[in-house]
Amino acid sequence: MGPLVVETLQGKRILLIISGGIAAYKSLDLIRRLKERGASVRSVLTRGGAQFVTPLSVAALSEERVYQDLFSLTDESEMGHIRLSREADLVLVAPASADILAKMAAGLADDLATTTLLATDKPVMVCPAMNVMMWGHAATRANVATIEARGIRRVGPASGDLACGEIGSGRMSEPLDIVAALETHFATSDQPRPLSGRRAIVTSGPTWEAIDPVRYIANRSSGKQGHAIAAALARCGADTVLVSGPTQEPDPVGVHVVRIESAAEMLAACQAALPADIAVCAAAVADWRVARQAGQKLKKTNGGPPNLTLALNPDVLATLSAAGNARPRLVVGFAAETEKVVEHARAKRRKKGCDWIVANDVSAATGTFGGDHNTVHVIDEGGIESWPVLTKQAVAERLAERIAKHLGGLA
Ligand code: CTP
Repeated sequence: MGPLVVETLQGKRILLIISGGIAAYKSLDLIRRLKERGASVRSVLTRGGAQFVTPLSVAALSEERVYQDLFSLTDESEMGHIRLSREADLVLVAPASADILAKMAAGLADDLATTTLLATDKPVMVCPAMNVMMWGHAATRANVATIEARGIRRVGPASGDLACGEIGSGRMSEPLDIVAALETHFATSDQPRPLSGRRAIVTSGPTWEAIDPVRYIANRSSGKQGHAIAAALARCGADTVLVSGPTQEPDPVGVHVVRIESAAEMLAACQAALPADIAVCAAAVADWRVARQAGQKLKKTNGGPPNLTLALNPDVLATLSAAGNARPRLVVGFAAETEKVVEHARAKRRKKGCDWIVANDVSAATGTFGGDHNTVHVIDEGGIESWPVLTKQAVAERLAERIAKHLGGLA
């Protein structure tokens, strides 16, 4: 008799997709480990996967039939791919070959596995396994970045001797490591989330103020910080609307994204998203727009450059802060400063009427604009909290946590 195993995955339904790769043999052990812990495992074997493990061994270990063919009549009538993907708590792709990662990134659906992956509304976890050069290839890196940006979780690969004889990163993680990742996933996702039932509005990115049909006034905001905040609030359970100016950032998972261009559109979209409990204004809104947009492209004339008269844009943060009954309970602004950061931010908090202001130094030397890091001070009624240099992601997590704590304290 083996050692006693605690049923940490009791009742969890795992849909295991086994794609092609020598590591598929480890998936047999993975099925055993999952079942020992109380999970049920239903498997889809791709054509490549079936070159490495037999349907019979997968069926025997999982004690379930194995699904292989998208167009097999029996598979489709007994269990459509939609049902297959919905009747699971998580879809696990192990091993995930370079090919299936590429198909996931591109949204291809040419067999049962990829169709199921495209149709699922459940969390997906991938365990890549491939040759070290394939793993390091720019195409694979880009595919992995794409699917991760969509919220797909990844375990591994690990480093070591690879089946192809080379050494490096590309080994599928060990079954027990994959099990541990699943245990963590379910332990955190089963917990009540601190912002469940709350509504949040987040502004992000720059605004574009049209001069004429082809030209506009803009700024260097990348939208990274605002998007990360929207994602973090959504992960904490908040029903989150992200009102975003034009950015290269992918839409965060689980967030309702409203795309706008100008400050006036941003304000209208925010007002339409009220009521809300939380508003975080992280956008770099253009302060000015041209008073009268030209209907046609401005032409060069002998009279020299055009006289552009600027008009002040509405202040989204100040308007939300002064929204009377519709005012979110917590309004958070940002202060982008290049000097006297804290002093200016304090004044901005008072002027705009928000509750907290997150001050950051955006002078060129800091690399904040467009970069992945941020150094911020959070200023509220009580004082100032200075955070160390953090990734924008970590700033977002910490801010969401602080917001949850604050609103929890008020409840
Ligand atoms: N903000 C806004 N609407 C505007 C201008 C700014 O909602 N029209 C918000 C920003 O999203 C940010 C805060 O106000 O949360 C401060 O933005 P910042 O650019 O630092 O300040 P400004 O108000 O533009 O002041 P200044 O340019 O004088 O520093």
